[in-house]
Amino acid sequence: MSDQKGLFITFEGVEGAGKTTNIDYIADKIKKSGQSFVLTREPGGTTLGEEIRALLISKELPEMHSDTELLLMFAARAEHLQKVILPALNEGKWVLCDRFTDASYAYQGAGRGIDTKKIALLENLVQGVLRPDITFLFDLDADIGLARAQSRGETDRFEQQHIDFFNRVREKYLSMANVEPERYFIINAQYDLSVVQQQIDELLIEFIK
Ligand code: TMP
Repeated sequence: MSDQKGLFITFEGVEGAGKTTNIDYIADKIKKSGQSFVLTREPGGTTLGEEIRALLISKELPEMHSDTELLLMFAARAEHLQKVILPALNEGKWVLCDRFTDASYAYQGAGRGIDTKKIALLENLVQGVLRPDITFLFDLDADIGLARAQSRGETDRFEQQHIDFFNRVREKYLSMANVEPERYFIINAQYDLSVVQQQIDELLIEFIK
């Protein structure tokens, strides 16, 4: 929104790109800088949103239509925006969000094949003019990411998709980053953690005082 004060930072990437570990690393750096922030995630971030997340990732339920999946993502997002994200930004806090609407363009759009116009319609309806200020894209070969995710143990409904699905997701993220280079920071997540964190440190210098 136009009177927003805090920074809205989102994190994206294919499964297994080390997002969670690196978000914790970034959150720790921001905390040390004295900036107050909220760390949250999508789908989820609220009581209702976490219930919706459980539906979305469940392998026990009957197959879900892709439109239903998209609408559930945005239902969780509406709740999250109104209850968590906007109040925090309006208080001047930064919001660190593990995935946001770019994931809908990547997974439901490129992955499932839903028309981008349909997603844009929901984006405008639910968010108005709110968009992330900064997006960190943890970029990784989809094969490597999926193998890493699968080696962690039980997979969720998304992680069971075919590799072609994740290749399309990755390509979509890279093309969005290409269209908005001023918002996107691409982190090459194929390297060891120390090298990835070195890249993060260099980027954080730009906006942590
Ligand atoms: P996570 O494992 O990063 O927490 O995300 C759960 C899954 O939800 C992940 O496979 C990506 C998917 N997802 C979408 O398909 N669309 C969305 O809009 C969001 C936020 C997540």
